[in-house]
Amino acid sequence: MKNIGSYPNLRMRRNRKADWVRRLVSEHNLSTNDLILPLFVKEGYQKKEEIKSMPNIFRYSIDELTRVVEKACKLKIPLITLFPYSEIKKKDSKGKEALNKNNLICRALRSLKKEFKNDIGIMCDVALDPYTIHGHDGVLKNSKIDNDLTIEILIKQSLLQAQMQCDIIAPSDMMDGRIGEIRKALDKKGYEDTQIVSYAVKYASNFYGPFRDAIGSEKSLKGDKKTYQMDFRNSSEALREVALDVKEGADIIMVKPGLPYLDIIRTVKDNFKIPIFSYQVSGEYSLIKNGIKKKLIGEDAILESLISLKRAGSNAIVSYFALEVASQIK
Ligand code: PBG
Repeated sequence: MKNIGSYPNLRMRRNRKADWVRRLVSEHNLSTNDLILPLFVKEGYQKKEEIKSMPNIFRYSIDELTRVVEKACKLKIPLITLFPYSEIKKKDSKGKEALNKNNLICRALRSLKKEFKNDIGIMCDVALDPYTIHGHDGVLKNSKIDNDLTIEILIKQSLLQAQMQCDIIAPSDMMDGRIGEIRKALDKKGYEDTQIVSYAVKYASNFYGPFRDAIGSEKSLKGDKKTYQMDFRNSSEALREVALDVKEGADIIMVKPGLPYLDIIRTVKDNFKIPIFSYQVSGEYSLIKNGIKKKLIGEDAILESLISLKRAGSNAIVSYFALEVASQIK
């Protein structure tokens, strides 16, 4: 930077002297277009159940879910992402409930698409963890998560969701090669318009705790996910992951979690000209939410955290604060 001037001619504080000028020179802003709303679905009718580890976040039965999605539409949130709370009795070692065309997600998709058509986009996770008894995203063979066997199931799960009119398929399982295989299968069956958001950069993170509670996999999870999710000590590896998934046909890249990985979002942004979503995960949500409740941090911490994700280079952010923030912006 040349000729930036110097004190006392230059006083940086002049452009901060009042709210109106701060608004005028602000470099990054948050709009409802930047928000993706994650929602948890459960069985039943007129059910709305708060998740213990996530204050003010609920699991909804499909009828209740419809009302929340209506609110999201009105607030102009462009996309929701659905996660099922699967009953224990429906879980097994292969996660076969994932392929049941009447599972929670399929029923929710049919009902939401009928009601809202293209007024809002719907994204669904492709992974087996809500359905496996051991809580892993894939299937075990000789006590290892078997990559290629898992892909075979993920392909079927993707096709089923596409058939149910899911707009965006989001493989979050971190198996090698699944984006290419899923793309190929979707195209072959005529779903060439179904987008793929690849969770290309997903870390084996300590911040997923409350989510596992939300989908009921926390008690069942055996061990950890370090043989497939990324090591948090790595950053160059993220670029290799993204390069592969871009080549395999990903339309959008997800970086997850959010706040501890701002550097990764920026690096991906600088190296690839592809849209980036980031995921402010459940642990980040609960930390901030509880901090505000206890008055340890200010309420604007929510906005600060979301704008930092934008500043780092995210096009949009999956956040449990989406509804709250969208109402505020409105
Ligand atoms: C797994 C999945 C996880 C999340 C979304 N999909 C957790 C995990 O990998 O165990 C976490 C989201 C969050 O913490 O908010 N397919």
